[in-house]
Amino acid sequence: MPPTRVIIDTDPGIDDTLALILAFASPELKVEAITTVAGNVPVAQAARNVCLLLELVDPHPRPPVAIGAAHPLTRPLRTAEGYHGEDGLGELSRFRTEAGVLRYPEPQQRLASQSAPALIAEIIGGAPGEIVVICIGPLTNLAMAIQAAPTQMAKVKEIVIMGGAIHVPGNVTPGAEFNLYTDPDAARLVFTSGLPITLVPLDVTERVMLTVELIDAVVRHIGNRMTRFVRDTTERLFGVEHGRMGRTATPLHDPLAVGVVIDPSLVTRRPFHVEMETGDGPAQGMTIADRRQIREEWKRPPNLQVCTEVDAGRFIALFLERICRLPV
Ligand code: RIB
Ligand code: CA
Repeated sequence: MPPTRVIIDTDPGIDDTLALILAFASPELKVEAITTVAGNVPVAQAARNVCLLLELVDPHPRPPVAIGAAHPLTRPLRTAEGYHGEDGLGELSRFRTEAGVLRYPEPQQRLASQSAPALIAEIIGGAPGEIVVICIGPLTNLAMAIQAAPTQMAKVKEIVIMGGAIHVPGNVTPGAEFNLYTDPDAARLVFTSGLPITLVPLDVTERVMLTVELIDAVVRHIGNRMTRFVRDTTERLFGVEHGRMGRTATPLHDPLAVGVVIDPSLVTRRPFHVEMETGDGPAQGMTIADRRQIREEWKRPPNLQVCTEVDAGRFIALFLERICRLPV
């Protein structure tokens, strides 16, 4: 079976880089492009972080990297360096080699000439029914691509979005998840586009937890540059998780969105009509799914497939096995 051709739209972000590593380590996927969006960090930092990861992974062929939206469609950008570190990757400049030089030096930035929305639309339009877009940051780029090139975007095979919270609390406000909260207007435009969307919400991503013990075991088992990178980029984060949540584990939000494309059997999907709250009140950015137990004909038709269950153990095993595979 030929690999699934994917575009990954991302705001790296620690879990974003773990998702990118998983994607490059999985023969089921072919990464056609990486597009960056402002979210966890400003978009220029996101592009820099993608280039740092590409120098580490060194994929062949190297996919194009495009810069996208520097802020949400209508609202100011609120970044998350408190969680991901000033560099967005757990403050990697703290790490040195035995020779005392930076273990993760400043990368060379080779960026595409097109904007992220233009590159997304161009690739999809050129391969009707073949491209899956995996969105693991705010949906600003995707919304801009749909607005600017609806005919090309209608040729997308599937859009997989890490975002939202259906039956569980939010993570950035009591009700909202970070990606959709950051740009709820973009999310509303995407959710009403009629395109084939699979939502990977906190309901399932908060159940796939990476622990310090698992990382330590992987580094002991296969101590290479990749597993050491995973340990280094998550080290500071475990301190943040412990301070905020009293846990020594972190959810693999973005890697699960990639996992769903690698092996769709990892999750159970259910169709829902889901609306975005775009007001400015305490419910801003919430995903409102119609879960009423009434006859379907009394509801608006579903617009999303929502992942409601996950085989967490099988996904964690897949993730750990794959990050050990990369030949670095
Ligand atoms: O809520 C989790 C999402 O927000 C993840 O994509 C994480 O990287 C942050 O962007
Ligand atoms: Ca992200």
